[in-house]
Amino acid sequence: TDNIILLGTGKEKKLEIEDYRILAGNLINYLKKYKANNIGLVASQWLSGGKLDQLGQALAEGLALSNYSFDKYKKKDDDKINVDINLIVEIDSDKKILFKKGWDKGLLLAQGTIKGRDLVNEPASIMTPTFLAKEAELIAKENSNISVKILDKVEIKKLGMNAFLGVDQGSDQPPKFIHLIYKPNGNAKDKIGIVGKGITFDSGGLNIKPGDSMMDMKIDMGGSATVIGLFSVLGKIKPNVEVHGIIAACENMPSGKALKPGDVIYNMQGKSIEIGNTDAEGRVTLADSLAYTQKEGIKTMIDLATLTGAVIVALGSNYTGLYSNDDKLNNSLLKSAKLSGEKLWSMPLPEEYKELNKSNIADIKNIASTRYGGSITAALFLEFFIEEGISWAHLDIAGPAYAEKPLNSYTPVGGVGFGVRTLLEYLINK
Ligand code: BES
Ligand code: ZN
Ligand code: ZN
Repeated sequence: TDNIILLGTGKEKKLEIEDYRILAGNLINYLKKYKANNIGLVASQWLSGGKLDQLGQALAEGLALSNYSFDKYKKKDDDKINVDINLIVEIDSDKKILFKKGWDKGLLLAQGTIKGRDLVNEPASIMTPTFLAKEAELIAKENSNISVKILDKVEIKKLGMNAFLGVDQGSDQPPKFIHLIYKPNGNAKDKIGIVGKGITFDSGGLNIKPGDSMMDMKIDMGGSATVIGLFSVLGKIKPNVEVHGIIAACENMPSGKALKPGDVIYNMQGKSIEIGNTDAEGRVTLADSLAYTQKEGIKTMIDLATLTGAVIVALGSNYTGLYSNDDKLNNSLLKSAKLSGEKLWSMPLPEEYKELNKSNIADIKNIASTRYGGSITAALFLEFFIEEGISWAHLDIAGPAYAEKPLNSYTPVGGVGFGVRTLLEYLINK
């Protein structure tokens, strides 16, 4: 039998694009309960309004993202239904084209996000630096506009990335430095670097984490999962900008060979870093990823990192801390996040906190002298490696990279793929 579901949307005037994502998510979650799998969406009433492409996009994203579950290790999956959605729309064909255009874009943005989620959810003994590198190689093989360079330990050493190698040295898994390049068919309007933290497991190193805090640390490659998720659909979305995806992938492990508190190591720029705590490893690997990106002649770069527990204390689980040395870049990212519904909150880079990262024996120390403002001092550590004239933004995604409980109707528990949609909007609108 056929069933009819009426979706209440509240006051028409108050509806924003994000509400349609939530609405679509609620619909799927309701249908899951009844194992319904064939939907005819009679959306003609909604389609009388203005921005039909945005509406199509939001519905596609909400439907696809809410029906996600990581089920490869399950015999049976109760968290997903086989939806076959038929849109029954009675509107002029030119409007239909606009709606469909947004719908197709939304499906691609969801697909990239889901790729990011899958990578985050994969256990760390599978999701090694080598696995991550293979994922990047696969994307390059499938897309004529995308190429990839994978550097092994010898090549990483040759480039002088001894900060990255310091974090890696306690692990039995070989490190990989991944550089993905997307080039548009026509002339590129700009050149953007997207840098992801790629710690495939963060045990803390010799400053080992207690059990509870270590539990979810397979997610510490969340930033790099976003980079790879984004690249997995870039060849189909085809923005008019050159995009570089950069990941220093390794594990942070304790062992007889591991980095020790008090050690001093040099990054690629020859800046010395005193290790105050081996668990503040992300910023140390990023010191080399950011240095490499700048050496490649990239003048605009955005990094994403599950960098600090402190950002979760500051902003809670749903918000990303956004830091930037460039107001224009900062505002573009906020605007893109408004479109995607992902939550960014601007944070400061105060001059007067810089002294908190001071070391007595090196150029900088990887932990601050106070735990207050820990996400800010981590961001200031990264800024120390940014050269004159470079536009840089840093997203501390430690909160929303992984959902301990659903973030909203279309973001279930587990990896979120945070940032894929925001950054794609940013690149498309560039
Ligand atoms: N990967 C963690 C940050 C993190 C915490 C991510 C919780 C996701 C959820 C990072 O490497 C770390 O351990 N940071 C330390 C820094 C401290 C030693 C200065 C932290 O936040 O406690
Ligand atoms: Zn750590
Ligand atoms: Zn970490």
